[in-house]
Amino acid sequence: MAYFDHGASSWPKPGPVVDAVVRALTELGGNPGRGAYALALASSRAILEARRACATLLGVPDTRDLLFQSGCTAACNLMLKGSLRPGDRVVVGSMEHNAVARPLAHLARAGVEVVVVKADPTGLVDPADVEREVGAAPTRAVVCQHASNLTGTVQLIGDLADIAHEHGALMLVDGAQGAGHLDVDLASLAPDAYATSGHKGMLGPQGIGLLYLVPGLELEVQIEGGTGGGASDSLEMPAERPDRYEAGTANTPGIVGLGAAAALLKAEGATLRAAEAELVRRLHEGVLAIEGFRVLGPPPGVPRVPIVTVVHDTLDSDRIAYELDRAYGIAARAGLHCTPWAHETVGTLECGAVRFGVGWGNTAEQVDTVLSALRELAS
Ligand code: ALA
Repeated sequence: MAYFDHGASSWPKPGPVVDAVVRALTELGGNPGRGAYALALASSRAILEARRACATLLGVPDTRDLLFQSGCTAACNLMLKGSLRPGDRVVVGSMEHNAVARPLAHLARAGVEVVVVKADPTGLVDPADVEREVGAAPTRAVVCQHASNLTGTVQLIGDLADIAHEHGALMLVDGAQGAGHLDVDLASLAPDAYATSGHKGMLGPQGIGLLYLVPGLELEVQIEGGTGGGASDSLEMPAERPDRYEAGTANTPGIVGLGAAAALLKAEGATLRAAEAELVRRLHEGVLAIEGFRVLGPPPGVPRVPIVTVVHDTLDSDRIAYELDRAYGIAARAGLHCTPWAHETVGTLECGAVRFGVGWGNTAEQVDTVLSALRELAS
């Protein structure tokens, strides 16, 4: 089988990630932060180390500013619902995933004004368009993804953060498709919040994600309950990070697995990214050479995350993905990819598209298998 759905979830997981999850399940049985006995202390220590590994990878100076969440969707919900109030105005790019679009729709019903800036046909949100909108009226936040799960387009997050900050607005980023695939240094990108998934480019297990918060940014807590720190006899959530935003028993296997993945990416990320880029180039150029197919997003040579999404002039996208799986053992995702906004932006809302998410473990031979399958299907 050739797995090309890393945009949905990386698979298989690297050995050190599997080993770390198994170790958590077999050796770290205590509830972290909830006991002073050795087994609980070992879990707490492992979580501390995992948080440190993730912070080092993502360029976060103080580990307390990096929160573990149940996934990027939970992180986006906390980031948006925790920072926006009725009467606020938010400027958002048109390539967002439903993890952002749906919470914003919820907030719009509650009285938040949501202004959508349309990206160009390659999926790029032009900072000049954002600046025009942000300058038009007092704005609480600019919201933009780091990279598109449909087109692979990499957004100019640093420029957007500068614009937001010049106008006194927050910069809130959905980094689900960025972290792990891009060299993310949050200290220099300077968003106010950055949500990301643990199981896509970060190569960790499913069920774990991260939310970075700039020092001093207070969000309205979305989930209250027991915490590893703070005074248990208070009915208020502790003021300190990360406990304030991490109610409930931690997902120790997920966190420890993600920590192992972050350490692996720190050591080998540059090599993995170079290999991914080469496979993406081969796939992208190969598809363009097949009559009837086009590739969404930027042209070859322009940086993108390892996503190559294709549309055929006449063949149905669902049918292509079905045949790839059934006849060739190739796993690729068709449909709308939970991002109707992005499909509408690039003109594929009606026809959908077939996405090849390249990642860890893919080979040039697998790419060639995809290309010869597409050639046969198009013939
Ligand atoms: N957000 C994931 C994707 O793009 C599930 O497929």
